[in-house]
Amino acid sequence: MAQPLFQAPPGTRDLMPPVTDRMRAMVAIFADEATKAGFGQVTPPMFEDVGVFVRIGESTDVVNKELYTFEDKGGRTIALRPEQTASLCRVFVQRRPLTPWKAWYFGANFRYEQAQKGRYRQFDQVGAEVIGSSDPDIDTEIIALAWRFYERIGLTNVTLLLNSLGDAADRGRYTNALRTHFTEHRGSLTEQSRETLDRNPLRVMDSKRQPDQAIIDAAPLLGDFLSDDARTAFDRVQAGLTALAIPFEIAPRLVRGLDYYNRTTFEFVAPGLDAAQNAVGGGGRYDGLVANLGGPDEPGIGFALGIDRTLLACDAEDAMQGPDTTAQVWVVVTAEGIEGLEVADRLRRAGIRADRTESGRSMKAQMKAANKSGAAVAVVIGPDEVRDEQAGIKPLRGQGDQTTVDNQQIVQAVQEFL
Ligand code: HAM
Repeated sequence: MAQPLFQAPPGTRDLMPPVTDRMRAMVAIFADEATKAGFGQVTPPMFEDVGVFVRIGESTDVVNKELYTFEDKGGRTIALRPEQTASLCRVFVQRRPLTPWKAWYFGANFRYEQAQKGRYRQFDQVGAEVIGSSDPDIDTEIIALAWRFYERIGLTNVTLLLNSLGDAADRGRYTNALRTHFTEHRGSLTEQSRETLDRNPLRVMDSKRQPDQAIIDAAPLLGDFLSDDARTAFDRVQAGLTALAIPFEIAPRLVRGLDYYNRTTFEFVAPGLDAAQNAVGGGGRYDGLVANLGGPDEPGIGFALGIDRTLLACDAEDAMQGPDTTAQVWVVVTAEGIEGLEVADRLRRAGIRADRTESGRSMKAQMKAANKSGAAVAVVIGPDEVRDEQAGIKPLRGQGDQTTVDNQQIVQAVQEFL
């Protein structure tokens, strides 16, 4: 085949069945879990004033290198959303819903990343946020929502990594300790990490580059710098997870790729995937973000799960097959009229997946299509059936002879085969 004139841009994919079917089913399960837990669906726009996203943190790759920004025809500087937490905080500030505000969302996000398997420039997330509560039991509930979702889609090989980033003052003391440590070892760090160190020593902990690992392993731990308040809250979250029998691992070096976090932070990792993209989801508290966007000083917590990666993790353990979309009935019509259209429409209105071959094809071609389709039964209508107001019911896949029923009995007759 000749090279097509246009191809999907790097880092994007054309999602097609069965992937689209599985994704849709996954989102429906998430919607159901979120609704049961009292969350309402919110759909913010896919683009916002760039300022909304700059609040994610100016030293993060997401803001620094990966934002899709452009000037619109009205001269506004717009960015495609790289995630939806900042968007939801903007919604909260603008609309001022009652607190605690519990919102879930689904949709595409855009990051100009180095594209590879599981890392795309356009990717889908489902997520949930609670704004206006600092109750640590909400942290547990939020984590439980994600965990129950994974359980329901049948994904078993997921590890919950948990950490507390403390409060700003804790992080200030910790950042100083890290700066001292990394500066002592500056010569052995990769060039990227040296640059990161000048901007934000905390971010160096995020490096997955091999030469940095030994220095990161020897760095001080944030857990040793937590205030009593932050420590008590973190203990309560752990007690909550234990009470709900949700297993977790404390990951004292877990640093998320966005800057707005404090206190509880977490990641869901699928060990079956490559290390660079084995995080199938993540989240945490972002107590200053709403205020940072010009709103009241309301705390927040939430998470987002990558649909694309979750699906890859499902593939690794044969989970989440998605709905059966094959036709159940094939309508074969060799008469001249439009009976085929009418019968297919009637079956569909009765909730049956029914399909047909284009009009005017030979009986042989239509039966071949029927057999190939995977349908359980064919409805066969020739000139005789049209004259007698009848239809043939022919079991496909092996046994059973064709029977004849009244035209009005077609739906009941095929139902016996489904
Ligand atoms: P995040 O860790 O940047 O957090 O993204 C959450 C999940 O989205 C990741 O664990 C991953 O599964 C998926 N993801 C991220 N980038 C890509 C990509 N380029 N390709 C495919 N999948 C990707 C957030 O987005 C925060 N908004 C989460 C949050 C909500 N925190 C508090 N509330």
